[in-house]
Formats: sequence, structure tokens, C-alpha cells
Amino acid sequence: MFNLSEPISINWELNNICNLMCPQCGRNQIKDGVLQWKKDGSGNPTNSLNDMDTTLEEFKIAFNNIGNVGTVRFYGHVSENVASKDFAKICEFVLDKGSHVMVSTNGSLRSTDWWRELGKIYKRDKVSKVAFCLDGLRDELSLYRINANYEKIMENAKAFIDAGGRAQWRMIVFKHNQHQIEEAKEIAKEYGFHNFILILSNRLGRWSEPFMYKNKEYLLLPQDIDKEWNEKERERAEYIESDELYEISCKFQRQNSIYVDHLLRVWPCCYLPNKKELVKDNSWYGKYFANKDNNLLEKSLNEILNDNFYELLQMSWTEKSMCLKPCKSTCTVKHKSGSFDASANYREKVW
Ligand SMILES: C[S@@+](CC[C@H](N)C(=O)[O-])C[C@H]1O[C@@H](n2cnc3c(N)ncnc32)[C@H](O)[C@@H]1O
Ligand code: SF4
Ligand code: SF4
Repeated sequence: MFNLSEPISINWELNNICNLMCPQCGRNQIKDGVLQWKKDGSGNPTNSLNDMDTTLEEFKIAFNNIGNVGTVRFYGHVSENVASKDFAKICEFVLDKGSHVMVSTNGSLRSTDWWRELGKIYKRDKVSKVAFCLDGLRDELSLYRINANYEKIMENAKAFIDAGGRAQWRMIVFKHNQHQIEEAKEIAKEYGFHNFILILSNRLGRWSEPFMYKNKEYLLLPQDIDKEWNEKERERAEYIESDELYEISCKFQRQNSIYVDHLLRVWPCCYLPNKKELVKDNSWYGKYFANKDNNLLEKSLNEILNDNFYELLQMSWTEKSMCLKPCKSTCTVKHKSGSFDASANYREKVW
């Protein structure tokens, strides 16, 4: 299903560590009205959080077992990649190999000196970029990015940009920050961000539930500047729960991209890894889930992709009884949620 004679891009999760508690992140859940870690979402079969980190040596072995790597995306799924001990050295290694690096970060870890050094590493490549997820200004930022400090992120971003790194400002729009969009654009220009992306989230299912975290009450409400988007998302949610199955077009296959988790296991995309809840109804998925051998320390990518899981996956897209929920919810052509091919959310490149 993937073409190894062409450069393959890798969505790579280096660890399962994060310092924040964003309520709609796959790491977290609201249970009994309290925001807390969702350990099952963290990377079964280890079933834990904050205990794995890929070293430079492991990364090199895994990278060399892939073959022709185009871009490495450290976008994270259950982690903050910047938390990895060897993160800067790993980026340097990827760039030395002639590949590009894209990062999504909450920007709140590490010192300004560390970010300055990272900026120097990124300076030599005009494609590689770090996206700082700045979902609002000042106090509003930490209404979603719980535990983050706006000033600290801005200092880090400035150190990175001033040292020559290309940075993107990425803003998820909520009701509580939608009035700050214009001001955020101005500040982004002033700081020298290379571009600015607005994101309308597709996680509407997890809205509007009041919750507690560290004795403080929170309530997240959806943006209402684009009501049409919310309506489309509601229709998609209905479809996901329905018995219908429309045409599926696999996003990662189209992009010739795979996902590598924090155990260096290979998955077809970032929507399917370690989903314990899929095992019960899909034994063919369960077999791959339980097989720890499909990792890039022990096997080449070519060997891993020979697992018949990949054949069954392609068959599953037209079979109601086999189709996995994430495939249906993310890649149904009729309910394509994002304007960018790379995202399941609505993304608008402002500049
Ligand atoms: C799970 S995070 C991991 C990477 C890193 N920790 C970060 O936050 O950028 C991966 C991506 O999900 C995005 N994300 C987090 N919460 C979201 C939400 N409610 N809706 C849409 N995207 C979200 C983040 O902005 C980030 O770009
Ligand atoms: S910073 Fe990223 S990984 Fe951490 S909780 Fe927020 S969205 Fe999840
Ligand atoms: S969810 Fe399924 S269809 Fe979509 S990218 Fe992943 S494997 Fe492909």
C-alpha cells in the first residue's frame, strides 16, 4: 500500500512524555468530571505514560531501517517530542541525511538557550519548520494548554526564530480565544513567524462538558465564527455512529506516509496505533496490535509492510464488518473534514 521506491515521509513519535494537560488530547480524558491521564490511549501494550524515550542511537538504527526518507514529522500523538533527551541531536541527524524535519510543539519546555541552539540547527534548511501551538494569547492560552505559560513559550519561540529557525504559529480556535485572532496575527508578524495557521478542531464530540483540574473549574466551548464547520462536524459524527459506509480514501497512502510510535513500531497512520478498543471487534487488527516484532529496531520497513495486516487493512475499507472506526471517521471522502490533505481538522493558511 506504500511505495518504497519513492521517498516516504514518517510521522514519528519519539516518546510518550508531555508536561501539559490539554483536555481534548488523546493522552487525556474527563472521567467523573475530572481531567486526568488516559493511560489506555498512551501506547498499549505498555499501557503507560511518561516512561519511554527514543535515544539517538535507537533513532539512527530505526531511520536506517526505513530506506528513502523524505520528511520526518515530529507531530506527536500522545507526546511532546521536544521532551526527548536527544531531540536536537536527532533533528541534526535527520538534516545531515538530507531529509526535512517538521515539528509540532507546545513550546513550553526547555530554556531559551536550548531553543537558540535548535534554531541554529534548523537555519540551514529552508523547508524544515517548527509549529508552535499557540492557542490564544496571555491567560487565554492556558485555558486549553493547561499548565503552559504564554510568556515562556513566546520567549522560546523568539530565541528559535532569532537564531534562524523557521517557525509557524498554529492557533486552534475556541470560543474563549476567537476574539484574539487579529491580535495574534499582528504579534506573529512582529516576532518573525514564517506563517500563521488557523485550525478549527474536528473534536466537537468532546465539547461543552464542564470539568475540574487542580481545584479549578473549566468549560471549553466551540468557536462560533464558523457555524457551518460545526454543522458539518455534527453530520460527520452522525455518520460515524450510523451503519453506512461510504468510499474511503486513505490519507496516509495518498501521502506515502507511515507512523512510527514511541516503541518504534510501525503503523499505517497516526489514527490507528495502539487502539485497545479496536481489538475486541477486529481480530485481524488485534493480531497486529499484539505483535511487538513489527518495530524498526528488529526489522526493516520493507519486512514490516509484508505483514498481511496491510492487505487486510485495504480490504477493510469496503467491508462494513471489517472497517475500523478511525478509517471511517477520518478518511471517508464524503465527510472529508479538513481543507488540507494532511489534517483531519479544518486548517486555514492565513499567511
Ligand atoms: C497531540 S499534539 C502532540 C504534539 C505537541 N505536544 C503539541 O501539542 O503540539 C498533536 C497535534 O494535535 C493538535 N491538537 C491538540 N488538541 C487539539 C484539538 N482539540 N483539536 C485539534 N487539534 C488539536 C496539537 O495542536 C498538535 O498540533
Ligand atoms: S501539549 Fe500536545 S501532547 Fe501534550 S497534552 Fe497538549 S496536545 Fe497533548
Ligand atoms: S485511518 Fe485508515 S484510511 Fe485513514 S489514514 Fe489511517 S489507515 Fe488510512
